[in-house]
Amino acid sequence: MTESLTDRIVGRIDRAPGGHQAMEEAVSALKEELPHYSWVGIYLMDGDELVLGPFLGKPSPHTRIPLSRGVCGAAASEKATIIVDDVNADPRYLACSIETKSEIVVPIMRGDVVLGEIDIDSDQPAAFGDTDRQMLERVATALAAHL
Ligand code: SME
Repeated sequence: MTESLTDRIVGRIDRAPGGHQAMEEAVSALKEELPHYSWVGIYLMDGDELVLGPFLGKPSPHTRIPLSRGVCGAAASEKATIIVDDVNADPRYLACSIETKSEIVVPIMRGDVVLGEIDIDSDQPAAFGDTDRQMLERVATALAAHL
């Protein structure tokens, strides 16, 4: 993951005129720049549930996820990024597409408060590593400033 790629994505977010546009820009930028990111979406906190916002990829049945469920719920509860190399081996996983093999979920935080999260699925196994985590945590920080 090159520094210029992260800068390009963060730049697109920072130029967005509002929160919703910033989320749409983040989703589009990630999907365009990283073709192995098969599904890219943003969930926002609403009480003790995560609500699906902008996304690109197949429609997901999981438009509202309680904090007690899924890899998404776990990342928000733990306030930490979660990488799952093999979704079929993780009992927390809520399936969105039969093709999905791996997933990363990155909380969008303001201080200690979870505002939402970036959720990305890949059709490739173990598609996400430390470089993805670092880049996506910077994207999450950029998004937090707009929400
Ligand atoms: N896989 C997520 C659910 C969201 S869909 O993948 C879009 C989870 O386990 O929480």
